[in-house]
Amino acid sequence: MSKITVIGTGYVGLVTGACFADLGNTVMCLDIDQKRIDGLHKGIMPIYEPGLEEIVERAYRAKRIDFTTDYAAALQSAEYVFIAVGTPSGENGEADMQYVEKAVKKIAETIDHSFILVDKSTVPVGTGDWAAKILQERFAETEIKFSIVSNPEFLKEGTAINDFMRPDRIVLGSNNRAASEKIAELYESLRCPILITDIRTAEMIKYASNAFLAAKISFINEIANICERVGANVVDVAKGMGLDSRIGPKFLNAGIGWGGSCFPKDVKALVHIAQEFGTQPQLLQAVIEINKYQRKHVVQKFEEIFGDIKGKRIGILGLAFKPDTDDIRESPAVDIIKYLTQKGAIISAYDPAAMELSKLVLPKEVSLYENPYQVVEGTDALLLATEWNEFKQLDFEKIHQLMHGNVILDGRNLWDPQSLTDLGFRYYGIGLGQ
Ligand code: UGA
Repeated sequence: MSKITVIGTGYVGLVTGACFADLGNTVMCLDIDQKRIDGLHKGIMPIYEPGLEEIVERAYRAKRIDFTTDYAAALQSAEYVFIAVGTPSGENGEADMQYVEKAVKKIAETIDHSFILVDKSTVPVGTGDWAAKILQERFAETEIKFSIVSNPEFLKEGTAINDFMRPDRIVLGSNNRAASEKIAELYESLRCPILITDIRTAEMIKYASNAFLAAKISFINEIANICERVGANVVDVAKGMGLDSRIGPKFLNAGIGWGGSCFPKDVKALVHIAQEFGTQPQLLQAVIEINKYQRKHVVQKFEEIFGDIKGKRIGILGLAFKPDTDDIRESPAVDIIKYLTQKGAIISAYDPAAMELSKLVLPKEVSLYENPYQVVEGTDALLLATEWNEFKQLDFEKIHQLMHGNVILDGRNLWDPQSLTDLGFRYYGIGLGQ
């Protein structure tokens, strides 16, 4: 079993560290945030991720995982050093590399033996070569040998543990094939395809994958908007398309747009990388524009229904950017609420996990409630923004009684239009051709 150090205890770092420990390795997780590390020692998870706490606890009890802020302690006997720090969007859409740079420089300063550096952070193409230069300069006059492997991660928030343990594929890119093969051994027991490439190609695979998925969603959202005009049903259109094995059924759910901590920053960063290298990525730019439009489209739909929405009471179900997470970064719900309040609508809202974080970003006048029924009381309309499981089976008779009006805008096509219409609602979905 191997000795692994993971720099960064966010979604990617902590899940990676915990899962490697669960597979029997000895893992040291490092973070510069002392509060986070103190919390982890007490079993407090810094993020909401189903199943993570149990795995961390199990590994901690078995002494296979530990946490520190001290680089020297973290790197002491590390064979493999994984970088899993954030690369948020910079001012012009570029990936902000300050955390990666700091991590690489700290490793260079501290480590005193040979190792393989594995990058899991989503980084601009060429970062691996840049890091190699830094390490080469530092270790030129020493016995220390190193290799760099790009190992992009494809975890989804909410299903991250399962995605780690049952991956579709592992991508390893390096200028030293033997180093990639060493890292491949760490994943051997997961029995999935392992693709070994050069380092720049692996870095590109990550951006290309996220951009493709975002494009797939923007594509179906554009088709949905056309469906609305021509009287077709996008849910069935997606079904009909998805049965073609070349297209596939996944990521074809039309809705109010994609958000989260990855797609928005990664598509922007890829546009930035392309422009920096002198090409104009027209499709990627359209993918972003369609996604921005989709949020405004919701407001337009309310305006078509009500005329003026000033003074209209609208209840919102769901604030997180998708179900099973408390993450509200780039959440469509948050933007839509801002647009609606700017136009004078009165907003009430509820989310099963994201209420605390939402308080920090939502306009002050938004009222947050403890459950869906409080949200809808006295409202003219109800908007479903995030398709949480608990919203699937609501008591719509009760909701009908509690609401003042009868408009439902189902932003994720979650509910059955016919049964809600039968109950007396005016039901609108996305791309349902009404
Ligand atoms: C995404 C990718 O799916 C992961 O493979 C990747 O590792 C991760 O980014 C990352 O780069 O770290 P995540 O951001 O957790 O994962 O979320 P997704 O489940 O992919 O959903 C992204 C957005 O697309 C959500 O807002 C979701 O509501 C929206 N979506 C998804 C749709 O609107 N329609 C769909 O059919 C699917």
